[in-house]
Amino acid sequence: MNNTKWWQTAVIYQVYPRSFQDSDGDGIGDLRGMINRLDYLEQLGITAIWLSPVYKSPNDDNGYDISDYRDIMTEFGTMADMDELIEKAKLRNIRIIMDLVVNHTSDEHPWFIEARQGKDNPYRDYYIWRDPVNGGVPNSLRSSFSGSAWEFDEASGQYYLHLFSRRQPDLNWENPKVRQEVWDMMNFWLDKGVGGFRMDVIDLVGKIPDQEITGNGPKLHEYLQEMHRETFGKHDVLTVGETWGATPEVAKLYSNPDRKELSMVFQFEHIGLDQQEGKDKWDLKPLSVNELKQVLAKWQIELGNEGWNSLFWNNHDLPRIVSRWGDDGKYRVESAKMFAILLHLMKGTPYIYQGEEIGMTNYPIKDISEAQDIETVNMYHERLAQGYAKEDIIASINAKGRDNARTPMQWDATPNAGFTSGQPWLHVNPNYAEINVEANLADPDSVFHCYRKLIELRKNNPIVVWGEFELVEDVPEEVFMYFRRYKGETWLVTANFSPAPVTLEMPEIGLVSEFMIGNYARDAADFQQLQLQPYEAFVTKLA
Ligand code: GLC
Repeated sequence: MNNTKWWQTAVIYQVYPRSFQDSDGDGIGDLRGMINRLDYLEQLGITAIWLSPVYKSPNDDNGYDISDYRDIMTEFGTMADMDELIEKAKLRNIRIIMDLVVNHTSDEHPWFIEARQGKDNPYRDYYIWRDPVNGGVPNSLRSSFSGSAWEFDEASGQYYLHLFSRRQPDLNWENPKVRQEVWDMMNFWLDKGVGGFRMDVIDLVGKIPDQEITGNGPKLHEYLQEMHRETFGKHDVLTVGETWGATPEVAKLYSNPDRKELSMVFQFEHIGLDQQEGKDKWDLKPLSVNELKQVLAKWQIELGNEGWNSLFWNNHDLPRIVSRWGDDGKYRVESAKMFAILLHLMKGTPYIYQGEEIGMTNYPIKDISEAQDIETVNMYHERLAQGYAKEDIIASINAKGRDNARTPMQWDATPNAGFTSGQPWLHVNPNYAEINVEANLADPDSVFHCYRKLIELRKNNPIVVWGEFELVEDVPEEVFMYFRRYKGETWLVTANFSPAPVTLEMPEIGLVSEFMIGNYARDAADFQQLQLQPYEAFVTKLA
């Protein structure tokens, strides 16, 4: 265990800066706002903040389109604020993990402005250009934000590639100069003392556009090993790759320490379980709890010692878990805690997305005019043109749209939830008078205090970090149950996914009286005949 890394025992909190805390009344969150809220994050007990992009950006995709990697978005503040954030966070033992968005830049990045000047420009080859084929697009690659991934450039008569919006041109990673620019930029941030990088769609950088290979290209791992060697390999940092298509086999390539690539990846297999086979994220189907158990258990077991899991339900691209698979009405508090307990007792590094820790919910829209997100807006128009019914598209947006989790953080019951004194850039959820930080802090039984205790439990009990995982198979479908075992100790995690009570009979486990945490008042559990309450979850230590 002498190879233990700080990030293996860590809990990470994701801040979406645009929506966290505004300090100057322009309706947009900023770095000063975050600095002012560090005490709150310290109280929660987190180890590090994953900061969604704060770099200079025209905000076609809310900062995931960067025009200067070494400067700060005007609305968010200045580099001096950023340095102060890193320093003040450090004083509280909180590290700052930067979002590294290097699959693409903004079309306003000076490299792209140069590249556009013509075929002979020295920066031309920083991006991916192709001649037309039969007078049209080079091939059928699609953008994640609808339409072709190729955009025609009138001036040169060529197309450039953009796997996201046409204002996010893809960088050409085959060009060693591009990689060198990225390494230099990463070293610039490492020298500032950041705690690591979350790597945006990193599995795309090894793409071979001409073969329509995007994810997991043949040179991907070579590039990551080069990155490790040239940048963070010399630093004690966390690196986590966003890898949508990863299987456990692929995840081991990224995160087996012997290979010198990344600390861990975000895998999304569980996240896709309510989507129809072969369709995209908007085409919904009900979640099968059984499938969820099998998928999460597979990841827990298969990485073994050759990799490390990241644990998450939410981020800025996903709907809120309590609205998605829980109950954001009657059992909001119970189901929010159930998801927390279930995830935070697993093996891996947990990530909390801002607002999750107070049980924030999705924002219901009635009309597309309320949507801001580029992915949502483009999909709406595309599907409308394809003949989908408006109500069905709005239903998909309410279920899966990215704005759901991007509404402003709910701090208190004052106007705009204490997020801003101005006009918020995105609507505040109308339930803020009930669901907010202030109310959570004041109530010892709140969702917040459940998260706080879970983080404490992880800090104080090596079994939570290191214990072996074993799924209990022989239980009713809606019950998710697993053991953790470490050095002769065994913990049992029990969670009911159902809004109805469920009876469990497990005489072999018998009466358990050491109760670690739960979302209902209970100080002993008799498994000879146990009535689980709606969305009940608890953790017990077995004798
Ligand atoms: C990642 C980000 C998402 C962004 C996309 C393009 O998936 O999480 O927010 O739109 O990459 O950068």
